[in-house]
Amino acid sequence: MVIFPTKKHLKVLFVSSEAAPYAQAGGLGQVMYSLPKALREIGVDARIFIPKYGNIDAQKKYNLKTIYQHLEVPTGDEKTPSLICNVKFFQPQNEKEAPVYFLENMEYYEKRANIYGYSDDSIRFGLLSRGVLEFLEKNSDWLPDVLNCLDWQTGYCVNFFKTKYQNSQKLKNLIVVFSIHNLHHQGTFDHRLVSELDFDDGKSEIPSFFSERFPKINAMKRGIIYSDAINTVSETYSREILTPEYGEGLDKLLLEVKEKLFGILNGIDYDFWNPKTDKLIYKNYTSLSIYKKKDNKIALQKEFNLPLKKNIPVVSMVSRLDEQKGIDLVLETIDHLLKEMSFQFILVGGGSERYTKPLLELKERYPKKIGVFLLPNFTLPHLVFAGSDIILCPSRFEPCGVTHLQAMKYGTVPLVRKTGGLADTVENFNPTSGSGYGFVFENYDRWCFFKEMVRALENFKYKKTWEGLQKRVMELDFSWKESAKKYLQLYKKAFEIKRVKREK
Ligand code: GLC
Repeated sequence: MVIFPTKKHLKVLFVSSEAAPYAQAGGLGQVMYSLPKALREIGVDARIFIPKYGNIDAQKKYNLKTIYQHLEVPTGDEKTPSLICNVKFFQPQNEKEAPVYFLENMEYYEKRANIYGYSDDSIRFGLLSRGVLEFLEKNSDWLPDVLNCLDWQTGYCVNFFKTKYQNSQKLKNLIVVFSIHNLHHQGTFDHRLVSELDFDDGKSEIPSFFSERFPKINAMKRGIIYSDAINTVSETYSREILTPEYGEGLDKLLLEVKEKLFGILNGIDYDFWNPKTDKLIYKNYTSLSIYKKKDNKIALQKEFNLPLKKNIPVVSMVSRLDEQKGIDLVLETIDHLLKEMSFQFILVGGGSERYTKPLLELKERYPKKIGVFLLPNFTLPHLVFAGSDIILCPSRFEPCGVTHLQAMKYGTVPLVRKTGGLADTVENFNPTSGSGYGFVFENYDRWCFFKEMVRALENFKYKKTWEGLQKRVMELDFSWKESAKKYLQLYKKAFEIKRVKREK
């Protein structure tokens, strides 16, 4: 009989397209830095497997050791039956941080500086998915008990495991968990526009990497079908995706597999996001010295070339510029808001021209009221959180949301839409009872957003009440500790599900 290992011996390998600090496009990369670290802190041997993208500096910055050369990864194609990869290994100096395996391939990773955005992304992540399994099968050093795959990029991995490696003497006991960080992206195609001919039922054999059909595989769907257990990054999102409104066409499938679907809220790494110790901000502070936040506000206004005013409210947004994030609501209402109310608005984040263009125009219209930095940036968010009064997350949907949790630690009050992880973490402020932590609106509608903005800016005028709110927000605890314990329970549940299925 196979027994679930104790946490002291449990070995978990995360397979991901991103992991900070090596490769990060959004929240996923941050989670891949902090969650393995939090698991290691409670005794789990957690490691990470990612592609070695071109801009990861193998020699100077990270001293990577080649541990497997000439790994032949099957492609399913007759003419080119395999792609050749190497596997490199990195053990960070800080033992708390997870060791990383990098899959190296000249054509698909080394020549590409970016993580996403190439026409052959399906092959790039198909290669990652098959590569990790091939590596585990052939490498003799270390074998995980749990393979935790993340998002569509590794949905192929879950499928390949079940169809090609399930009976391998070496890998057959592996538990496969699939974590959904964003159901909206399901593969390289747009699942909302897919024709009947291109529809993927999720059950047919995965075709060759080079076939026309391969880019049309719904890797998200396959991850859902073939995994032992699934989780999303908040409880509310795990329920929302069972409805047509949030299910992205997979709600019926998700309802069928509901028994293996769980929700675990992401945490925040307070070693990194803490105004008391943060070296990137102008003045450090705690909830007891919150008045120093005003000096950080001046530093932020200087950074964005805005008039230096200690008492004007600064409203900010740190976000990928994506339809998901509710930037439309801001763009549709900001002229009206700026006419009625006095505030400055700062936005940091990269994304499509659909948003960068109107944001640049906005900056031109209100040079003294608006500050923008329209590229992803990893130091500016610290300044923004320390110097702002209000952080916006008016998302259409939000599996968890990371920036509002980070900002809250800096005493910046969230204004969010009641969805996903935002609903789980921000209780609406009630000035009469003095309860709640932020400003929450329900409907995805510009006037509902407008109303909440006015409410927040009005409340900002009551200094004592506002300071009380800020202090309460700062003292909330969203550290990874509790979430890491829940991941451990999830792995145990996945183990049970697999055992019961086997015995049937
Ligand atoms: C995705 C989701 C976001 C979540 C992040 C990390 O980017 O859109 O809500 O916080 O993943 O899990």
